[in-house]
Amino acid sequence: MANAYLNICDQLKQTPRTWLVTGVAGFIGSNLLEALLKLDQYVVGLDNFETGHQHNLDAVKKSVKKHQWERFQFSQGDIRDSEACKTAMFFNGDNGQEAVNYVLHQAALGSVPRSIEDPVRTNSTNIVGFLNILNAAREAGVEKFVYAASSSTYGDHAALPKVEDRIGKPLSPYAVTKVVNEMYADVFAKTYGMTCIGLRYFNIFGKRQDPNGAYAAVIPKWVVDMMNGAPVFINGDGETSRDFCYIDNAVQANILAAFSPQAKESNEIYNIAYGQRITLNDLFESIKSTLEKNQYRLESFKPVYKDFRPGDVRHSLADISKAAKNIGYAPTHSVREGLEEAIAWYLWNAKNNST
Ligand SMILES: NC(=O)c1ccc[n+]([C@@H]2O[C@H](COP(=O)([O-])OP(=O)(O)OC[C@H]3O[C@@H](n4cnc5c(N)ncnc54)[C@H](O)[C@@H]3O)[C@@H](O)[C@H]2O)c1
Repeated sequence: MANAYLNICDQLKQTPRTWLVTGVAGFIGSNLLEALLKLDQYVVGLDNFETGHQHNLDAVKKSVKKHQWERFQFSQGDIRDSEACKTAMFFNGDNGQEAVNYVLHQAALGSVPRSIEDPVRTNSTNIVGFLNILNAAREAGVEKFVYAASSSTYGDHAALPKVEDRIGKPLSPYAVTKVVNEMYADVFAKTYGMTCIGLRYFNIFGKRQDPNGAYAAVIPKWVVDMMNGAPVFINGDGETSRDFCYIDNAVQANILAAFSPQAKESNEIYNIAYGQRITLNDLFESIKSTLEKNQYRLESFKPVYKDFRPGDVRHSLADISKAAKNIGYAPTHSVREGLEEAIAWYLWNAKNNST
């Protein structure tokens, strides 16, 4: 594992800090919570369970030690409610309330198709909610505001690989919200002297990503559908490509971003991906062969091709050199390695939990 990250983990263990993770009951948020508690950090979590689940928090509880779990304070609340955001900025410690050092803002309504179905709802969570959290972080005087940005911000810019300062026009209401988040972070950095870091995630996957519902992401959906013998649908010809990124890489990026020795009063954006792209057809074959190694009989299993989906970009590949250079980001898991771990988890989860 990369030295920069290991050093930071050592420092954090020796001198624990306080963190707010929004969207803590979701996929990325619950993985951040688990990593931070395992580093003996103090964590406030905020979530309204709109797409997150209590069972994700229960799973984290099982995976950490009792004294680590006791360092977690959960607040059920909505980021569209500015008072809930203000309250979440404080950890109730032995010496009373103290403002958190870092915010890792993950709460949002993900999914391009969901935003096309209901742009107003996506707007209120992703823009009004974002502004509430950003403003509460400013008022509380947090040291660093790290937030989930998105590769959808590249929109119709066709060039590959994607470089942070070259973006196109958004292709969906969801993408608009993520562009606006970056603009607000920039303005808050300039106007109020905040330090904001946006992590443009590229298709993150891994344990606890929800396979259910109309807006499920492709990897958990396909894994669970193949396990159940249900049809697997590919939107388009399958030659659409993505830079899929395993969750451990995204967790590393968040912790590095919070700790990176950035100049004060700055705003930075980083691509967070693995730095390779694979097509949906290849992804299908990889999942299929990993399941076959686990005794699933899928020789004749074929995908069902459907129309292209509006709002989807055709190809996605990140240049991750800026994150590598500035914050020491060094992804530890390739797509294949990540898929092995993620699929092992979905198999274990199917045996041990009904959720
Ligand atoms: N997963 C990806 O591939 C990916 C890619 C790009 C960006 N992102 C961004 O990363 C973040 C986390 O995504 P995820 O995949 O973990 O999704 P998720 O749906 O699993 O998690 C989002 C969490 O936010 C919570 N939430 C939603 N609306 C809320 C509200 N109004 N108030 C409080 N909590 C609320 C949900 O209940 C959920 O627990 C989001 O901002 C998403 O846009 C994710």
